[in-house]
Amino acid sequence: MASKTLCYIFSTIVFLLQLHFSAGQTVVKSAYWFSGSGFPASSIDSSLFTHLFCAFADLNPTTYQVTISSSNSALFSTFTRTVQQKNPSVKTLLSIGGGNANASTIASMASQASTRKTFIDSSINLARSNNFHGLDLDWEYPSSASQMTNFGLLINEWRTAVANEAKNSGKAALLLSAAVFRTSSYYGGFNYPFQAISKSLDWINVMAYEFYGPSWSPKEAGPPAALYNITASQISVDTGIKAWIQAVSPKKVVLGVPFFGFAWRLVNANSHGIFAPANGAAITSGGAIAYSKIKDFIAQTSATTVFNSTIVTNYCYSGTTWIGYDDTQSISTKVTYARGKGLLGFFAWQLAQDPNSVLSKTGFGLEGEKEEKKKRKIEQTEE
Ligand SMILES: *[C@@H]1O[C@H](CO)[C@@H](O)[C@H](O)[C@H]1NC(C)=O
Ligand SMILES: *[C@@H]1O[C@H](CO)[C@@H](O)[C@H](O)[C@H]1NC(C)=O
Ligand SMILES: *[C@@H]1O[C@H](CO)[C@@H](O)[C@H](O)[C@H]1NC(C)=O
Repeated sequence: MASKTLCYIFSTIVFLLQLHFSAGQTVVKSAYWFSGSGFPASSIDSSLFTHLFCAFADLNPTTYQVTISSSNSALFSTFTRTVQQKNPSVKTLLSIGGGNANASTIASMASQASTRKTFIDSSINLARSNNFHGLDLDWEYPSSASQMTNFGLLINEWRTAVANEAKNSGKAALLLSAAVFRTSSYYGGFNYPFQAISKSLDWINVMAYEFYGPSWSPKEAGPPAALYNITASQISVDTGIKAWIQAVSPKKVVLGVPFFGFAWRLVNANSHGIFAPANGAAITSGGAIAYSKIKDFIAQTSATTVFNSTIVTNYCYSGTTWIGYDDTQSISTKVTYARGKGLLGFFAWQLAQDPNSVLSKTGFGLEGEKEEKKKRKIEQTEE
């Protein structure tokens, strides 16, 4: 009897502690694994994450079925089992589409009820037969009022189908997420379907990066994913996130951070501040460069590195090469920001660009470790 009472008291304490700790914590710590990177799924330190996205499944332009290419089929079907070896509780989502997918094909699928149904049914079958816990749509981007409306119809019907499938199969419902633009409306002022997102998606992955890059901003070396702007014309994470959390609950919002930067060729090696005059890309053809390659560049050229804490961005320069990127300071400031705003969590694009988990450990893992410590303390109290 006494031990039962004690048990009750302890579980109440544990419950209250959990309530206390849940405030200001992020629930989703996630990243995309991109099969095209060649980074083996077995090398992912999945203990740092709650969710992993497996990218990408394709959309057949004629049948509108979701498919997995033959070169990916063995990798995708073993993905969940592979990443669960280091973390049995990590959840996996099959991501469909992506930046290289044909957005018109997705738009045309979403424009008719019958093709939406083909997409939905085939995606659910594919998720189940390949052991994923959820599905993610990366449509870059719905770009007209009717495409936004159709996106809303698609996710509402998807949610209904996923709920029915769960009821019939007796399994937990598949998770549903979508990767979305950095702010709540696309160029031209087309708003995302906020009600449908709130009702039908578990969360949105806000792609809060690629604000400036040499391909579309060749003349100035802009910060590719700064947290804050100091003039109204500068693009920032904060502006987009504020718009999103006015439109949907912060608990639907997962903040994207880049594990890559962009390299520009400076006009003048002595003019190397943020927004310095530039002349297109350096290092790679579009200037995109992985975090690990940026660190190699810094080591090899003894480049000067700067963290600007006002707008929260890192950059480095050597000679006429200038690279804007997120290092540990930017990532951890953004993680703190996400917690402060009550966001559901954050995700990174993409794992191969940080093969030694330097960024994952700073931004994601430390927080995870702190939580682990708290849990361990609670368990000790219980004993
Ligand atoms: C994209 O899809 C549309 C319609 O499905 C097609 O007309 C167009 O040729 C495709 N574009 C590319 C680059 O494949
Ligand atoms: C940042 O940009 C937004 C959108 O243009 C603007 O409303 C805001 O005032 C800007 N912040 C500053 C400090 O200029
Ligand atoms: C940070 O960057 C902004 C330009 O975006 C600049 O005005 C400011 O002076 C920089 N701060 C420092 C400490 O360099």
